[in-house]
Amino acid sequence: MLNVKILTGYPEMFPGCLTHSLIGKALKENIFTIETINLHDFGIDNRKSVDDEPFGGGPGMILRPDIVEKALLSASHNKNLKSTKIYLTPSGPLLNQEKLVNFAKLDEMIILCGRFEGVDQRAIDVLGFEEVSIGDYVLAGGEIAAQVLLEGCIRLIPGVLGHPKSLLEESFSNNLLEYPHFTRPKVWEDSLGNKHEVPEVLTSGHHGNIKKWRLNKSVEKTKKIRPDLIVKKEQEQD
Ligand code: 6GU
Repeated sequence: MLNVKILTGYPEMFPGCLTHSLIGKALKENIFTIETINLHDFGIDNRKSVDDEPFGGGPGMILRPDIVEKALLSASHNKNLKSTKIYLTPSGPLLNQEKLVNFAKLDEMIILCGRFEGVDQRAIDVLGFEEVSIGDYVLAGGEIAAQVLLEGCIRLIPGVLGHPKSLLEESFSNNLLEYPHFTRPKVWEDSLGNKHEVPEVLTSGHHGNIKKWRLNKSVEKTKKIRPDLIVKKEQEQD
């Protein structure tokens, strides 16, 4: 079982997307749990502030380290658990499938969702948060990023997916994008009257040829739109 604890100023954004489909079923079955910790419960002064202006000047507000620590200490924690602390930020290293595979083996994940301009660096360093970004673009806060990370991770927990075999062939599992898929009808006539056929090899029944064709398509597609993955694959083989 994976226990997820989310430190956020917007607890009502959870469990959000994670109540639906197979992930929602896993939540109902307690394959994972989600507990939110509201940063505002640990605000200071009359105004219950959790953030303040950056030293050195600049735009935006920064989440105070003492608030993060108090929120973190309030989360129940068992020392014997395999646990990690993640801070979601566009300035972290990029999330990838390999990281998700490792996160899926944990017993506990504590996720800090930033809003504002950022979090005081001391909180990240002293409290031991691992920074993670979900892509080279900026969101308004880490809450959706947390749901992206969790959905990607929870589907990898044994028992969550209907067809675990599909995990072996999916995109990124071997640093290749997935080959294209086709289903019925075998000939599709679109609304303009044009006919589109499924590639012949797929209906040939020749499993060896199908396998070759699919690998070819995977490599072709990866070379074209994600050459960086091919480089990564070659480096891994060296
Ligand atoms: Cl983790 N947070 C925010 N606010 N923006 C992002 C992100 C995270 N990853 C990519 N953009």
